[in-house]
This record gives sequence, structure tokens and C-alpha cells, in this order.
Amino acid sequence: MHIAATRPLIARRPAAPLLGTIRVPGDKSISHRALMFAALAVGESRISGLLEGEDVLRTAAAMRALGAEVVQDAPETWRVAGRGVGGLVEPAEVLDMGNSGTAARLLTGILASHPFFAVLTGDASLRGRPMQRVIDPLAACGARFLSRAGGRLPLAVVGARDPLPLDYRLPVPSAQVKSALLLCGLNTPGLTRVEEPEATRDHSENMLRHFGAEVSVQAQGSTRIITLAGQPHLRAADVVVPGDPSSAAFLIVAALLVPGSRLRIEGVGLNVLRCGLFAMLREMGADLRTENQRLQGGEPVGDLIVTHSPLRAVEVPAERAPGMIDEFPVLAVAAAFAEGTTRMCGLKELRVKESDRLTATAALLAANGVRVEIEGDDLIVHGGRPPAGGAMAQTHMDHRLAMSALVLGLAAQAPVAVDDGAFIDTSFPGFAALLNGLVEGPAPIAAP
Ligand code: S3P
Repeated sequence: MHIAATRPLIARRPAAPLLGTIRVPGDKSISHRALMFAALAVGESRISGLLEGEDVLRTAAAMRALGAEVVQDAPETWRVAGRGVGGLVEPAEVLDMGNSGTAARLLTGILASHPFFAVLTGDASLRGRPMQRVIDPLAACGARFLSRAGGRLPLAVVGARDPLPLDYRLPVPSAQVKSALLLCGLNTPGLTRVEEPEATRDHSENMLRHFGAEVSVQAQGSTRIITLAGQPHLRAADVVVPGDPSSAAFLIVAALLVPGSRLRIEGVGLNVLRCGLFAMLREMGADLRTENQRLQGGEPVGDLIVTHSPLRAVEVPAERAPGMIDEFPVLAVAAAFAEGTTRMCGLKELRVKESDRLTATAALLAANGVRVEIEGDDLIVHGGRPPAGGAMAQTHMDHRLAMSALVLGLAAQAPVAVDDGAFIDTSFPGFAALLNGLVEGPAPIAAP
């Protein structure tokens, strides 16, 4: 089932500040991986705090179609009886990954080393996204692929019967490509080796260890070399999914922009390879503090306390992009209110997200009265007075654009509408209700 009905929304300045103590839904990256690794482990794993957004529900359905037992016991509490490494079975149906690039890429890695036939598809956004970046390296293990032109979904996979271990240097910094190769390596004898010139989120490495695999990571300058010993005995493990820092980002920027606001967001994942935005906002003058830091299942977690702050412009160098790759639309919104000109460099990868996020973020800001330019792969935002607002933003089936536009509307001079807020459910179900619950008085986010 795809998200069908469009849901226009409009956000306006709230009558009161955003105040409260809240949690955000589970981390999307970790939720996908928890379901996949649990399905490849022997025994029953319990996952709590699972994100029940559309993207992750696609992964749950796919793992079920591949033979794992995947059951919801209570809200955000799931149980997975795994099949063991190499134990998945041929799915009877096409695997529909909805809007989720992570689900599609990681699953392709799993399928590449399972000797059966499977077909992957997705919604119009996902069917437009490049899969060649996983097809090319995975083909070297002996898997065969047929796709639409340009490596687009639908994609048919015949996994290798005797997969060869992969040794690959990532040409683009992508945790999805890295993870696809590691997942393929699980059912492959020998050592799978992935070299990443720029570090990307390491949730797969952390969770592989949590389920009992042998993974080593060596640093050579800024390059990381990840080696996985194939055909491990993965044993069931419990996973507590932290709150998604990429979802917390929208509330943090909202609180920074709405005068008088103060929020405490508990239990947020603080993996350093995900927290680039928080460092950037602090450099912009944000009062954003961390408390109660702890380790939870191999991942750092803590509470974030954010207080409304005036912001100043910054330069974001290209090497910081991988650590905040999903946060540029909302950072651009923050930059529109900051004093001075913010330049965000090296954003090529934004062009192949759920939408062309570079173009769409610039269009969102420009339509709402912000002076913005794209120079090559850089995004330049001229900040200052609160933007005029007043426009209807095109969200292009992209949850993060929709939420960024609504955050803009909370502080712009006139309300900001989005053509479709339905895709917010892919990563942050209940976003509007949670935000409205922080304000006394009329709901700032509503149907137009
Ligand atoms: C993700 C990796 C990133 C990110 C995406 C989630 C992951 O994509 O944008 O939202 O869970 O591995 P890329 O691998 O394309 O950079």
C-alpha cells in the first residue's frame, strides 16, 4: 500500500512559545537495520522504540515475505523470529519498499547473496532514485540484476548461489551502499571489505557487533576500512531504538526560531556521525545542550535541551555534509532567519534523495521571500529578518521538505502551506500533533 491521499497543511506563527518535555519517534536508520539483522539472526529478538513510520513498516513486511516472523506485540514493541544467516526464502510477491531508499538499498544487499529470485519496487519517488550505486558493486559477488534504464526500480534480483566476498571503495559517501555490501557479506564466505573515504553513519557496524558478527574498523587518515567476517552465527539480540536525531532536528529548529521556546527532547540518538546539525547550530549561536548521555545497545543516547536563540550565519564545509546529510532542508530554514549569509558546500548527494532536495529547498525558500542561490553543488542562503512566508511549498513526496516548510511557517511573517504533508508519516508519524501539543492556544499546524 502506498501513501495515497494528499494532505495539504498550513503552519502559522503560534500564539505562545513551544514549551515541554517530549520524545521523538525511533531512529529510522536503526529501525530498518534492527528488523533486517533480527530476521538474519537465530532466535527471537525484541525491538522496542521501533519507528512505526511507513518506511519501516515496508521493511517489516519485506522481512516477513522473506520468511521471518515479524510481530507487533505493543505500540513500538516488536518481536522478530529470525531465519539465521542464509536462511531467508524466496518471496512469493513483489517487495514494495514504498518511499524508502534505505529499505530498497539494504534489502538489495541481502538479496544479492541469497540464491533465489526477487523483485523490488517502490512509489514514484523511489522508482526515480538511483540503484546502480548498489547494483554495480553487488554484481561482483555473482548476483544478477535487471532494472529499468539508469538502474531504476522495479529491480529483479537473482542472488548468487556461491557468492564471492566483495572488496570495494565507496565512490560516494553513502551509508546505504556500505550497508548493502556488509549485508551481502553476511551470507558470503571470507572477508568482505569496504573502504569509505569519508565516514558515514555506522549503525550497521554497531548493530552487526550487537548481533554477534565480527566487524573491524581501521582508520587510515580520514578513510575507514570496514572488514566483516562472512557467515557468522548471528544470535537474537534485543534492540532499544533511540529517538531519531533527524526527526528531533525539526523540533529543535522550531524552538530556536519561535521566541520564548524551550524544549527538552529525551532519549535522542547522539551518534557523532549523525549529529553534524547540532554542532552547526551551536556554531550559529544556538543554546542547545546535552544531558544524561549514556550508551544504549552500542549507540550513544542523551537528552537535548534547546532554548530560543538568535542565530548567525555559518559556512558548512563539504566534509561536514555526510554527518548531517538529511538535515540540510531544515538547516537552510534556520539560515533564513540567521544574521548574514550561510553557505552550505558539497551538496551533490541531495539531488538524489526522496526528491532533488537541493533544488526543492532553494525553491521553498525563494517562494517564501528568502534570497537564495545554488552555485554548483553549494546552497547559499541570505538570512536576516524573518522571511515573508505566504507561499504554498511543493514537497515532491519528500517528508523532510514538508516538515522543513512547516517549521518555516511557524516563524515566517505569513503562514506557509505545503501541498502534501502525507509523506511526513514515512519518518515522523504524529509530527503535527506533537508540535501542536507544545503550544497553548490554537494549533499552529492545521489543514488549510
Ligand atoms: C541512510 C543513509 C543516508 C540517509 C538516509 C538514511 C541510512 O543515505 O540520507 O536517510 O540509513 O543508511 P545515503 O546512504 O544515500 O547517504
